[in-house]
Amino acid sequence: MSNSFWSRLPKPFFCLAPLADVTDAAFRRIITKYGKPDVLWTEFVSVDGLCHVLRSFGEEGLTLSHPLLRDLMYTEAERPIVAQIFGSKPDHFFQVAELIRELGFDGIDINMGCPDRNVEKQGGGAALIKSPELAQEIIRAAQEGGGGLPVSVKTRVGFNKSELETWIPKLLETKLAAITVHARTRKEMSKVPAQWGYVKEVVEMAKGSGTLIVGNGDVRDVNDGRIKAAETGADGVMLGRAIFGNPWLFANLPQLRAGWQIERPVPISPRVAERKNNDDTLVLNHATQRRNRPSEASALRPDSFAELGLGHPTIEEKLRVMVEHTKLFHELLGDVKNFAVMKKHYKAYVNGFDGARELRMKLMETENPEQVESIVRGFLGQL
Ligand SMILES: Cc1cc2nc3c(=O)[nH]c(=O)nc-3n(C[C@H](O)[C@H](O)[C@H](O)COP(=O)(O)O)c2cc1C
Repeated sequence: MSNSFWSRLPKPFFCLAPLADVTDAAFRRIITKYGKPDVLWTEFVSVDGLCHVLRSFGEEGLTLSHPLLRDLMYTEAERPIVAQIFGSKPDHFFQVAELIRELGFDGIDINMGCPDRNVEKQGGGAALIKSPELAQEIIRAAQEGGGGLPVSVKTRVGFNKSELETWIPKLLETKLAAITVHARTRKEMSKVPAQWGYVKEVVEMAKGSGTLIVGNGDVRDVNDGRIKAAETGADGVMLGRAIFGNPWLFANLPQLRAGWQIERPVPISPRVAERKNNDDTLVLNHATQRRNRPSEASALRPDSFAELGLGHPTIEEKLRVMVEHTKLFHELLGDVKNFAVMKKHYKAYVNGFDGARELRMKLMETENPEQVESIVRGFLGQL
């Protein structure tokens, strides 16, 4: 990772999680426009599927007409952007890593945490936690095919129980650029709260390895992520479901970060400073001190957004962006994805204001952007 974008990221850095059928090319453009995180991920794409496309069309014949390639569509503004892939055949990872490099991505991420039965049936996703040697072979194939492109892994803490002590060293042996730890086991799916103590354990294991550790699971917003990073020593934080209906999730990142930099020199107790010159520990102590002092708590409060003068988006803004998102989805993906994909976005955008329920019900009946725009215009006209 020495020369890659990973080494140039601020600490802690903030990533947009891969969310299949949510963070598609259209939503990523909207997020990049209204609040860009430090790193973006594509949705996961099957290496078997991509190899099939490669075989059928040949590299020269590849066009965006194929749905799988549409998943790998991105714009320059989204950099650094990482392509996430899944599967279980090392030679397919090699070929697809070559393709990802040729497509100009900044990194390759391998999914080793997905609990989806179809993915696991093929030996991919979380199933790889049970086959650490195969996982290593896959990583090495991607590193070779990627020809220097940094390779990272996104995984869980274990299959049925925590297997960090055996699983993480196997991953670290392969000199990954980064490991994202979703702080739950495969068995837990998303049914129990993420346990960030696991992230802290992985951070300890990875010390001195050169592999960055990204914590993931239940992060509400940037401030919450910053606190979790400080408490665990994670290099970065990944946010997923918090982006639903909120492309402004990362909008206050530059302002908050500037505030944190001013904050850092605030005197810490000399005892703490003496005890350790380890930066991570100081940040942790500092964050803990601040949280314990109510008068200064505002720096870590989730609603700093408003304090910084950015303001929460108004209902009009939210709905305007929802229509913009819908049009972009139709334009970029309308021929390969079902319009129903947009409905889960509507549920998230249209929430928490008078008339939201009725508006949502109307939007659930729509089939195209024109209908959505007309319903929204009608609603805004009544406000
Ligand atoms: C709808 C949905 C789709 C997801 N798709 C992917 C995916 O393509 N690749 C992946 O590694 N994880 C995927 N995940 C898991 C998320 O990336 C993330 O690890 C999980 O949601 C926990 O983070 P959060 O609490 O911030 O949402 C998905 C999760 C959801 C809810």
